[in-house]
Amino acid sequence: SYGYFTYDPGFLSTASCESSITFIDGDKGILQHRGYAIDDLAKKADYLEVCYILLNGDAPTQSEYDEFKAIITNHTMVHEKLAHFFQGFLPDAHPMAMVCGVVGAMSSFYHSDLDITDPAQRKRSAHRLIAKMPTIAAMAYKYSVGQPFVYPRNDLSYAENFLHMMFSVPAEEYKVNPIIASAMDRIFTLHADHEQNASTSTVRLAGSSGANPYACIAAGVASLWGPAHGGANEACLTMLEEIGTLDRVDEFVAKAKDKSDPFRLMGFGHRVYKNFDPRATVMRETCHKVLKELGINDPLLDVAMALEKVALEDPYFIEKKLYPNVDFYSGIILKAIGIPTSMFTVIFAMSRTVGWISHWDEMLSQPGQKIGRPRQKYTGKIDREFVPLNKR
Ligand code: SDX
Repeated sequence: SYGYFTYDPGFLSTASCESSITFIDGDKGILQHRGYAIDDLAKKADYLEVCYILLNGDAPTQSEYDEFKAIITNHTMVHEKLAHFFQGFLPDAHPMAMVCGVVGAMSSFYHSDLDITDPAQRKRSAHRLIAKMPTIAAMAYKYSVGQPFVYPRNDLSYAENFLHMMFSVPAEEYKVNPIIASAMDRIFTLHADHEQNASTSTVRLAGSSGANPYACIAAGVASLWGPAHGGANEACLTMLEEIGTLDRVDEFVAKAKDKSDPFRLMGFGHRVYKNFDPRATVMRETCHKVLKELGINDPLLDVAMALEKVALEDPYFIEKKLYPNVDFYSGIILKAIGIPTSMFTVIFAMSRTVGWISHWDEMLSQPGQKIGRPRQKYTGKIDREFVPLNKR
């Protein structure tokens, strides 16, 4: 089963912080980054421009964008010794395990900008992380398939470079399909930030203790990995593979409705959006466009479309407000692009790094910042007499 996640409404969800990065209205299905609507950003900006906006607050001028792009492009390589970390993993290690470990190790390589009280050093760490995450993600994939690592190229866009590092081999350069590169860039943008979700709250809590940015991002990667959160896109494809054929869709829908069964439809529902996730709306459009333009005919995708139809028409799903979320469609697009399911959450982590590090930077720039300390509701025994072991 995919497990059943319950939330203690008291824990963390009351954690309050002030942020000007992302605004969500779950009832109205509104998502804005620094006041810009997600639809506009996904359709009119590229991911690096969205990174600039999240980090700096306003849309860049052309020269500001060009300078930012040059900075990121020139930080895409990683230290050669960092590549050795991968050799310590077993061949079947999950790429998320490798990314989590390697990102945490980055602080031992990039320690020239670890004074978190210095805004300029915080920004340089942010630039390094945004630039190097695709390289590390692609290295994790290459290691898992037994192919040599591929160096980044400075003449490619952010999305093209990632695809190049994923799919080029020494014998043949990967020819980047513009439809795929554009869909990849849009997936990055739609996953860039999402207010105080579990992994962003994890990064903020880690950062509040003064931990270095690489340790904080590694904590975010770990938190995102869960199937209730960023792991949902991988779990969604696993679920589609388990359903397998159209004639089994009703069986799984019935399981999802059965309160005695912990099974949940992966890629459906959301803690905040009790209306359609605006990212899913854009992702759905992209998904159908990519499948059509690439001429993909995959029975798994037919199952996905059948599930989508149920969710949009079934009274139970409508009453529970269980719409397909961003992870539902992103998993389908990534599969259509030829990316293995084990890399889906890695791509989510890569995309979300800019959101995590923007919140980290914002928190540390706020005056009077103190260490986070969520409280609890104590439900255990109290004031008990302790009887020594030899008398018990
Ligand atoms: C992400 O926080 C963020 O912003 C996260 C994220 C981001 O960008 O950072 O948006 C990314 O994590 C998206 C969510 C990906 N997760 C999944 O797709 C996993 C499947 N979804 C569920 O686990 C669930 O919907 C959650 C965890 C996403 C949200 O759960 P909630 O808000 O705690 O909702 P709930 O558990 O209170 O559910 C409400 C009702 C329940 O029924 P009742 O107890 O009221 O009878 O809806 C049911 C649930 O049983 N329900 C589902 C369901 N999700 C909720 N039933 C079947 N299938 C589902 N997927």
